[in-house]
Amino acid sequence: MSERDSYYVTTPIYYVNDVPHLGHAYTTVACDVLARFMRLDGRRVRFLTGTDEHGQKVEKSAAAADTEPLAFCDQVSQAFRDLTVALNASNDDFIRTTEARHIESVQALWKRIADNGHIELGSYSGWYAVRDEAFYAEDELVENEAGEKIAPSGAPVEWTEEPSYFFKLSDFEQPLLELYESHPDMILPDSRRNEVLSFVRGGLRDLSISRTSFRWGIPVPGDDEHVMYVWLDALTNYITALGFPDTDAELYKTFWPAHTHMVGKDILRFHAVYWPAFLLAAGLEPPKRIFAHGWWTVDGQKMSKSLGNALNPLDLIERYGLDPLRFFMLREIPFGRDGDFSHDAMVTRMNVDLANDLGNLAQRVLSMVHKSCDAHVPEPGEFTSDDNALLAQAHALVGVMRDNMERENPTGALTAFFDLVGAANRYVDTMAPWTLKKTDVPRMKTVLYTLAEVVRHLAVLIQPFMPDSASTMLDQMCLADDARSFASLGSGGALKPGTELPKPQGVFPRFEG
Ligand code: MSP
Repeated sequence: MSERDSYYVTTPIYYVNDVPHLGHAYTTVACDVLARFMRLDGRRVRFLTGTDEHGQKVEKSAAAADTEPLAFCDQVSQAFRDLTVALNASNDDFIRTTEARHIESVQALWKRIADNGHIELGSYSGWYAVRDEAFYAEDELVENEAGEKIAPSGAPVEWTEEPSYFFKLSDFEQPLLELYESHPDMILPDSRRNEVLSFVRGGLRDLSISRTSFRWGIPVPGDDEHVMYVWLDALTNYITALGFPDTDAELYKTFWPAHTHMVGKDILRFHAVYWPAFLLAAGLEPPKRIFAHGWWTVDGQKMSKSLGNALNPLDLIERYGLDPLRFFMLREIPFGRDGDFSHDAMVTRMNVDLANDLGNLAQRVLSMVHKSCDAHVPEPGEFTSDDNALLAQAHALVGVMRDNMERENPTGALTAFFDLVGAANRYVDTMAPWTLKKTDVPRMKTVLYTLAEVVRHLAVLIQPFMPDSASTMLDQMCLADDARSFASLGSGGALKPGTELPKPQGVFPRFEG
C-alpha cells in the first residue's frame, strides 16, 4: 500500500466535564467529511474520536455532580458517543481514556520516554488553570477587570506547588524547529504555523508531566504517588487506538503517522509542540498534519455552560435536519476561521444553496427527463462546445475538491462544487430545454443528458457532506453502490441511455420556519 492510500484522521477527544455542544459537533463533522471523502476516493481510512476522562477538571465536575468519577465519565462519555451517531459520523473506533488498552499504552509511552533519558523528578511551583488543564508562566498571565491574574484564555489560575516529574521539553526546541522546517505543511493554516514557530523560537521550558495533589489519572509507572499530566495521557489516545504499545500491530503499521489531527485553535500548542516532542523523545514518528480550525460564537460570545448560550446540536438537527446542519457548518465559515452562528444564516443557506441552487437544479433536470423523455435517460446526439465545456467542468471537479480536502479545506471544496451548480443552472436557462421540446427534440435530449451527467457528478461528490441527501439523489438516478465511488466519475461511469428512472422527489425543501 502506498503512502497516499492510508489516511488516519482524528478528532480531539472530548472532555467529559460537560455535555456536547455545537463546537464539538463541528470538529466531528469536519473529520467525518474528510474521512468519507477519502474512502470514496479509494483510500484506506481510519477515523477516530472519543472522550478525555482523567484530570482535575473531570474530577471536580464529578464531585460537583456528587458522582464517582468513573460513573460520571460513563454517563457523559455516552452523550458524546450518542452525538457521533446523531451526526452520522463514520468513525471506526471510539476511545475512552479510562479503558485498559489506553492505560497500558500511556504507561508504555512514559517508559519509552524515561528510558531515553527525557524525564526527571523535580518539583513544580507555578500557575495552573484547571479549565485549560495547562501550566502558565508568570509572564503569560493577564489581569481581568477585577485585577486578578488569569490565563490568556480567560481561565482562572491557581498557585500550585508539588513534587512533579518533568519532561525535558527544552531539549526538543531544535528538533521541533527542524521538523517544522522540513515539513512546511505540518501545521495548517499558515497563520497557526507562524504562531507555533514563534512560540518555540521564544524558548521552551521543561514541562511538568505528573501531579500529586489529586488522584484521578493514570499512575506513573513505578511511582504511585504521581498521576500523569492529563495532556500526556490524552494525546496518547491517537496511538493507543492503533494498538500501541505494539508497534508491529497491523493498524499501527498501516496508519501511523496520522495524516491529520484536527483540533480547535485553543489546543494547538498541545498538539503541535508537546505531542511531537513526546513522540520524538519516545523514538516514534510525529504526525504529518495538525490542522487548527476556528471557533463558533453565539451573538459574538464564546459558547459556555456558565453563559447558558451553548447550542445543542441535537436541537439544531431536529429543527433543520442533519444534512443541512452538516453542510452549513462547513459552507458558511471558511474552515480555519472563527464564525458566529446565526439562525438567519442557516435558513438562508438552506433556502438559497440547497433548495434554490442545488435542489432545484436536480429537480428540474430529473423531472424534465421524467416528463419529456418518457422517464428514461435520453440518448445524446453530438455535443456542442457549450455541452463539452460544462461536462469538462464536471469531470474536473473531483480533482479540485481533492486538492482542497487534502489540505483540510472543505469550504474550498464546496465553493468549487457550487461553481459547477451555478454553471449548470445558467446552462439550463440558456439552453431552455422546455423550448427545445417544441423545436428540436434531439437537441433537447443532448442538453438533458449533459445536465443529468452533471447532476450525477454533483450527487456523487456531495456524499461526504450530506450522506443521506446524496443517497436519495443517487437512488433517483438508479446508480448502484459501485457507481457511487469517485472511481465512477468521468465518462467511464456515464449514465446509460435508456435506463428507466423513477419519478423524482425534491431532496432539499425550503425552510419555512
Ligand atoms: N480534551 C481536550 C482535547 C484532548 S485531545 C488529545 C479538549 N476537549 S474539549 O472538549 O474542551 O474540546 C474539544 C474540541 O472542541 C476542541 O478542538 C475545541 O477547540 C472544540 N471546541 C470547543 N468549543 C468550540 C467552539 N465554540 N467552536 C468550535 N470548536 C470548539 O480540549
